Amino acid sequence: MNILLLGSGGREHAMAWKIAQSPKLSTLFIAPGNPGTATVGTNLPIASDNFPELKKAVLENNIDIVVVGPEDPLVKGVVNFFADDAELKNIAVVGPDRIGAQLEGSKDFSKQFMFRHNIPTAGYLSVTAESITEGIEFLKSLEAPYVLKADGLAAGKGVLILNDLDETISELKAMLDGKFGAASKTVVIEEFLDGIECSVFVITDGKNYKILPEAKDYKRIGEGEKGLNTGGMGAVSPVPFADAEFMRKVEERIIKPTVDGLNSEGIVYKGFIFFGLIKVKEEPITIEYNARMGDPETEVVMLRIKSDFVDLLEGVAQGNLNEKTIEFDERSAVTVVLVSGGYPEEFEKGKVISGFENVEGSIVFHAGTTEKDGNIVTSGGRVMAISSYGNTKNEALALSFANAQKLQYDKKYFRSDIGFDL
Ligand code: AMP
Ligand code: GLY
Repeated sequence: MNILLLGSGGREHAMAWKIAQSPKLSTLFIAPGNPGTATVGTNLPIASDNFPELKKAVLENNIDIVVVGPEDPLVKGVVNFFADDAELKNIAVVGPDRIGAQLEGSKDFSKQFMFRHNIPTAGYLSVTAESITEGIEFLKSLEAPYVLKADGLAAGKGVLILNDLDETISELKAMLDGKFGAASKTVVIEEFLDGIECSVFVITDGKNYKILPEAKDYKRIGEGEKGLNTGGMGAVSPVPFADAEFMRKVEERIIKPTVDGLNSEGIVYKGFIFFGLIKVKEEPITIEYNARMGDPETEVVMLRIKSDFVDLLEGVAQGNLNEKTIEFDERSAVTVVLVSGGYPEEFEKGKVISGFENVEGSIVFHAGTTEKDGNIVTSGGRVMAISSYGNTKNEALALSFANAQKLQYDKKYFRSDIGFDL
């Protein structure tokens, strides 16, 4: 089988690493990929949302399955582009179509979907400039802290959690006034939920699904989960509090109604569903959906899938995921993300990375790196994810932290407390 994977981050390097281990694979291509994916497949210099160029590459390289890593091409309709093209329509794309991707692309859409299907989630009100008065009334009926969410994609920055009511009202006005561009023309105001979060993933062929290993990610830049939000500074799997009873509730109350709900509404969803969950007094509540795998969660989830990942992708392509089995690796897996100093605010790029040859016992997934004059240099905020196995979480973390010290570049930063709260 020839597979084309879209994307260029740590998530895609981790997926590529796992796909490359499959006996079912002939050739793996990644568009555009990064220096890490180039070690396990063939990078193609095509942006993941350049659909006409992707079409050429798919036909030239006899691609059987396209796997979409990031949300952007999904929201832009890559699945619809393939389905509507006479030459591409028989090629399987693992990812939801434009409407399915709205589970992530529009918070208002996803909240309405959850309410229609009785999926536990925080109470909310969606507000536009026309209904700001109702929005303010709703805020006054809530207790602090207040949660404001831009409806559309805002590069992970569109959620504000504030303690002061007056500040919240002025932020609401600023958002409706275009603080996040078109993404905040509609704002979702939510009840605040207090609990501990985890990420649960499923792969679905539209009817059947398999639950992948769960993970917990660490979103804030500072230790002790303080400071600004980032894309994710590290992840751990398994998550001790996501025990069998908790996962049973998640499947019954959240996963099944979601897959069945998509089906009953005629939404074609073949791909990954990421459930951002929070455990409040033992009960799982849905905070958000994403239409893709998590990053850096994928950098631990792939380690914990023992079975052939390509077999699962094939199950999505052929619509017979129910005939496939998934086996988990019993060990713990963790990842520690090395970032550029200054991230998630301004940071410098182009710093030469050294020390790869000293890394022992971990897998270095590239995220924001590129090749320049024969060196690997930094090219993004999140630079690399150092993933490790261990018999315990702490054993795995010790390995990742030790290797995080061995990789060097100017203004390197990472959190030394990943997993601290578990
Ligand atoms: P989202 O993009 O919807 O996942 O929100 C980003 C982060 O904000 C989540 O991972 C939570 O940490 C936090 N958050 C979002 N909604 C709520 C809520 N209703 N109550 C508490 N925290 C929330
Ligand atoms: N790590 C969270 C996300 O991928 O959205």
